[in-house]
Amino acid sequence: MKQLLEAADKKGVAVGAFSVGNMEMVMGAVRAAEELNTPIILQIAEVRLKNSPLELMGPMMIAAAKNAKVDIAVHLDHGLKFETVKKALELGFTSVMFDGSLLPLEENIKQVHAVVAEAYKHGATVEAELGVVGGNEGEGKKHEILCTDPDDAVKFCEQTGVDALAVAIGNAHGNYPVSPELRFDVLEEINKRVNIPLVLHGGTGISDEQFRHAIKLGIRKVNIATASFDHLAKYAKDYCDGKEKANYFELSAAEVEGVYQNVKRHIKVFNFIND
Ligand code: 13P
Repeated sequence: MKQLLEAADKKGVAVGAFSVGNMEMVMGAVRAAEELNTPIILQIAEVRLKNSPLELMGPMMIAAAKNAKVDIAVHLDHGLKFETVKKALELGFTSVMFDGSLLPLEENIKQVHAVVAEAYKHGATVEAELGVVGGNEGEGKKHEILCTDPDDAVKFCEQTGVDALAVAIGNAHGNYPVSPELRFDVLEEINKRVNIPLVLHGGTGISDEQFRHAIKLGIRKVNIATASFDHLAKYAKDYCDGKEKANYFELSAAEVEGVYQNVKRHIKVFNFIND
């Protein structure tokens, strides 16, 4: 993943990191990336593993990446337990995120440092989060947004040796009730002082203009989850609603198409590809 983010940095673009939960989502995302000839990241968050087990999803994501005509990194999103991070690395994930954002700073540093040491053994990239991204990746309590403190970000990057930093700048996971106002001033300050690629979580619902502005200020990876899950569900529902008797194979194709359309749209925004 580090190589993809460095290449994106040279071009002044961002790599789309797309969450997947089944084979159709993997196929839709890869099809869009190949069609636009751009690298992407396929990712799955630890909270999603109860629906889509790592032992099944991991090898499929890795096989899809290996067979693709473009470069694809395979990433564990929001790793919460060291054990899960280790399992993903052993399966061959090229990067992992460890989310210690709800921990006190010193504890977050300590735990991320241990993840960096483990990932190093596998030649894998590590992303971590500082500040609190709002909403929630999955069910449960919604978190209040807490913007990343630039001073903490400097200390955190120096002491952990992390490769990429997810920032909290007013972004939140899930659908926003109203379009968010991102704190570009905070992003700019972090980008000036931290010399690693920055990551924007909570991509669903952020406007194209805001994405592009954030990319100009150092965002090199953008996470999209909810929009792909919602697109898949909508295309599947529309297909079923329009049929007296649904057919599995057509339903599967509708799911792939829903994800493909969403991923394609976002890749174009993140890579400044205009129609
Ligand atoms: P959304 O569900 O808001 O797109 O957020 C995705 C994300 O940040 C995954 O970590």
